[in-house]
Amino acid sequence: MTRPKILIGMTGSVAVYKVVSLVQALKKIADIQIIETHSAAQLANPQKLKTILKVPVHTDLFEKVQPLSLNTASGTHPLLFIPHIEFAREAQLVLIVPATANFMAKLAWGLADDLLSTACLYTRAPIWVAPSMNTNMWMNPAVIQNRTLLLKRGVHFLGPQKGHLACGDWGDGRLEDPVHIAEQARNFLESKQRWKNISVLITAGPTREPLDPVRFITNRSSGKMGWALAEAAQNKGAQVCLVSGPVALPPLPNVKIISVETARAMHQAVFKYQKKSDLIILSAAVADYRPSFYHTQKMKKNKSSKTLSLTPNPDILSDVLKRRSSHQLIVGFSAETQQLQKNARLKWNHKPCDMLIANQVGSTSHPGFDSDENEVWIFSKQAPQPVHFLKQSKTQLAIGILDWIEKTYRLSAWKKKESL
Ligand SMILES: Cc1cc2nc3c(=O)[nH]c(=O)nc-3n(C[C@H](O)[C@H](O)[C@H](O)COP(=O)(O)O)c2cc1C
Repeated sequence: MTRPKILIGMTGSVAVYKVVSLVQALKKIADIQIIETHSAAQLANPQKLKTILKVPVHTDLFEKVQPLSLNTASGTHPLLFIPHIEFAREAQLVLIVPATANFMAKLAWGLADDLLSTACLYTRAPIWVAPSMNTNMWMNPAVIQNRTLLLKRGVHFLGPQKGHLACGDWGDGRLEDPVHIAEQARNFLESKQRWKNISVLITAGPTREPLDPVRFITNRSSGKMGWALAEAAQNKGAQVCLVSGPVALPPLPNVKIISVETARAMHQAVFKYQKKSDLIILSAAVADYRPSFYHTQKMKKNKSSKTLSLTPNPDILSDVLKRRSSHQLIVGFSAETQQLQKNARLKWNHKPCDMLIANQVGSTSHPGFDSDENEVWIFSKQAPQPVHFLKQSKTQLAIGILDWIEKTYRLSAWKKKESL
């Protein structure tokens, strides 16, 4: 079996020396490459690091890059060795340990002016950041803003801890314990192994129900929750198929995306992929009704009032439950504008999926739809009371939901439909 690969980015913090014990722990479970920023290299000599740790240590964006031949007559491109791509290509995890305030800013704003920042822009692996800095730096509004931006984008933070700092001060900013960082990385890689053979089908976004060639009925769903779930499942190592209504979100690498417009098209696509799936999460906000008549030409305005006749759309969750195979775990979503728990329970009684995730939508305090954050309650037979996930970014929430599923239902047993 090939060993997983971890890229460690070291930046110019006084805590660089702690990376030695971290790498020694991680070497037991993964192949390690280190990229040091030039500031880090001032504090931890790359040659010495290489000798002590016996892992490759790189610092230079142009390492081993030969000047290009300027003779363009042949019209062919030379096959170049491009360090930021080569060193990050196979990494399953990028750990920035320790992370300076400067590097967090570069990561947040997408700078690519050295080997590490360029590799971070290139990688599709999850990026974890373990900050280390003086408390005043950590509490600086600019650093707080950068951290918020990175969290929103799905960057996972490890620490910092409160404690004695190298400068003699006491407060927030101390690097997370390397033992804890190594433990989390090991858990992540093991989880990747467990999810490797799991096929996940997710629906996301709104549907559009056309009235005529230029008009349609839809809702305020942005698709962000479903896309965050797809990204989180992919990061866990699952094979993910995402059936999405019309959204304005960037493509997700390594996720098979099926774009649909109407509820009926989503219904069809879900059935096409249902059989192959182990975990099915229906988070799309599917239109319950569609216009009964489709006008082939744009409807003309006149003075008379009009009545719109609506026809019910197929109920995807009910039909998925009817066609379920015994191994499948089925998760429904319920969006409510009032009496969330009562209404969600009613829906769950009618559509007894394994888990029902309820979220409040339609108010400014609980936007749910078209927001970067969400707060949910999970109903499941495994918990006597609904489990409450506090308001947080949809990215974090998606990871939390999948972790919860993994903890509650034994993955290896899904194929036998056994739960803990
Ligand atoms: C001895 C020394 C220790 C430093 N420790 C830290 C630190 O713990 N955290 C931090 O954010 N910056 C620290 N700095 C400042 C960074 O090295 C500086 O901001 C640098 O530009 C960071 O570059 P990099 O992010 O590319 O590694 C330290 C500087 C020196 C000289």
